[in-house]
Amino acid sequence: MSKGRLLYNYPLPVRVWHWINASGFVCLILTGFQIRYAEVLNFMPLTVAISIHNYVGFGVIANFFVWLSYYLGTGNVKIYIPDSRGWLALVWEQLKYYGYGVFVGKHNPHLMSPENKFNPLQQLVYLVVMFVFLPAQMMSGLFLWQIKKYEEYINLLGGIKLLDTIHVLLFFLFTSFLVIHCYFATLGHTPLARFKAMLTGFEEH
Ligand code: HEM
Repeated sequence: MSKGRLLYNYPLPVRVWHWINASGFVCLILTGFQIRYAEVLNFMPLTVAISIHNYVGFGVIANFFVWLSYYLGTGNVKIYIPDSRGWLALVWEQLKYYGYGVFVGKHNPHLMSPENKFNPLQQLVYLVVMFVFLPAQMMSGLFLWQIKKYEEYINLLGGIKLLDTIHVLLFFLFTSFLVIHCYFATLGHTPLARFKAMLTGFEEH
């Protein structure tokens, strides 16, 4: 079988960031369930779950700044910014593809390249996840880690109950994102192609 053109879509720093982030999230979600549902779940002692959650949380925060420095430093952050020209029409094309085309063997309407890696829907979701939800989750987590120390800020933000609700809602959002993200990642030219690309850097076009 002839090979398509190979594109270097995922540079090393992005791959390293991504897999540290992904394993960090799996860990945070598992320990998060144990902490939130300690009355009904008992797969890990609560104190151990809290301790792992705190350490891994700091790891994910540090890793986020590696990702941010790479994208801001190289100027590649523009791949995350949707182009307003014809954006709605492109989103509609992409939705039609995911809702129908993909099931009847149509081609993905988005032509991928290292400079234009994400389709308009991916761009929107990744932009919100990386620049809104993840920073909000990091901040709320940090404040919940030392409630007394950050009391002033917590009160400014509406109090501990609101902050805890935000952290838990985002936790559910990230858990759902992970499942949906993995499903969409199977929609490459073979079900494992995108996973391989995130490991090797190269994607077949
Ligand atoms: C088990 C967990 C995960 C798996 C298996 C996974 C898999 C993948 C794969 C295969 C890609 C490349 C194809 C694509 O863009 O869809 C990718 C890209 C991406 N993933 Fe994940 N992912 C996981 C967790 C996460 C988490 C937790 C986040 C963020 C909170 C995330 C954010 C991203 C972003 C932003 C990209 C694009 C990276 C870039 O090219 O700059 N992923 N993921």
